[in-house]
Amino acid sequence: MTAFPDGSQCWWPVAVARELSADRPMRRQLNGLPLVIFRTNELKPAALVDACPHRMAPLSQGQCTQGQIQCPYHGWTFDGQGRCVRIPGMQDAHALSRRPLVRALGCVESAGLIWVQTEAGAPLNLPDESNGVDQFFMQSTVDATLLDIAENFLEAFHTHFVHRGLVRRDTQRQQVDALLRPIDGGIEVAYQNEQTQNGWLSRLFEPSRGASWGRFLWPNLAQIEYHDAQQRLTLRVDLWITPVENERHQLFARISTRRGLLPARVKQMLLTPLFRRVLQQDIAITEAVTHNRRTFEQHPDALMHGKPLDARHDLMGPALRTLFEQQSNGGIVNRQATLYL
Ligand code: FES
Ligand SMILES: [Fe+2]
Repeated sequence: MTAFPDGSQCWWPVAVARELSADRPMRRQLNGLPLVIFRTNELKPAALVDACPHRMAPLSQGQCTQGQIQCPYHGWTFDGQGRCVRIPGMQDAHALSRRPLVRALGCVESAGLIWVQTEAGAPLNLPDESNGVDQFFMQSTVDATLLDIAENFLEAFHTHFVHRGLVRRDTQRQQVDALLRPIDGGIEVAYQNEQTQNGWLSRLFEPSRGASWGRFLWPNLAQIEYHDAQQRLTLRVDLWITPVENERHQLFARISTRRGLLPARVKQMLLTPLFRRVLQQDIAITEAVTHNRRTFEQHPDALMHGKPLDARHDLMGPALRTLFEQQSNGGIVNRQATLYL
């Protein structure tokens, strides 16, 4: 059983790349650690711990000059590797140390996002999936655990209630075959024999339904993918969930649709308000779930079940819990189920 890499060696998205301009630094937090993100001279992104070694001023409140970050307090200036390149008022520049004075983190741009790695580990290796598809990003923050967010995104039984009428209806269920299995780097549930859903989203944007999949890939990617009856991509949503601090997470949702007759901008304009509504509904219920769980940690005896009670058709939730507990998918075995969705 191979364990997944520790989270500190994984790559986490911290910003949408086009929002990081050459002249303005960004402050981000990863697991509570404040970071300043900026672009260096070659427009490559860089991430430093957001604290000036002189008097601890947040570098992110400073300015970017010629690909370097200048502290807002006394103007000490640092390059992308955290080396001090200028101390204003100090004439003997050669006295500056060539050793980094601010800790730099691994930082790369890929798939439209800026990624950060806190400890040295494997390089980021994302497949290029932009061919033949239109893509756009949506972002949000959620005060909930990664597990609650991932399960909410990946299981379908809440859609009849949380997204009543938008995605599915409780009164018009259909039989679907589902198979849970471990895959490289995570888990997957494949759905077969589903007809087009009867909510507004499907009626408007999905003429036919073929197979679909929900996947979780370590450490933080939840993915849903729908194909039409001709096995062509209809929609895929990649949801990267980045821990900001405490139980706050930043969501980066990349929406991919097959390139077609509608221009990408028009599709984005039509889909954004609908997806925004779905996202808000999911965030509200997920925050309520995490908050309620925390409240009941003070009253464990009031609960008749200390652990989540799963129905037979709950495939994703138990598998996700196992995956998070073991930091591996080794304990997950294939499971088949007939669902009424
Ligand atoms: S605190 Fe940054 S230059 Fe003084
Ligand atoms: Fe949802």
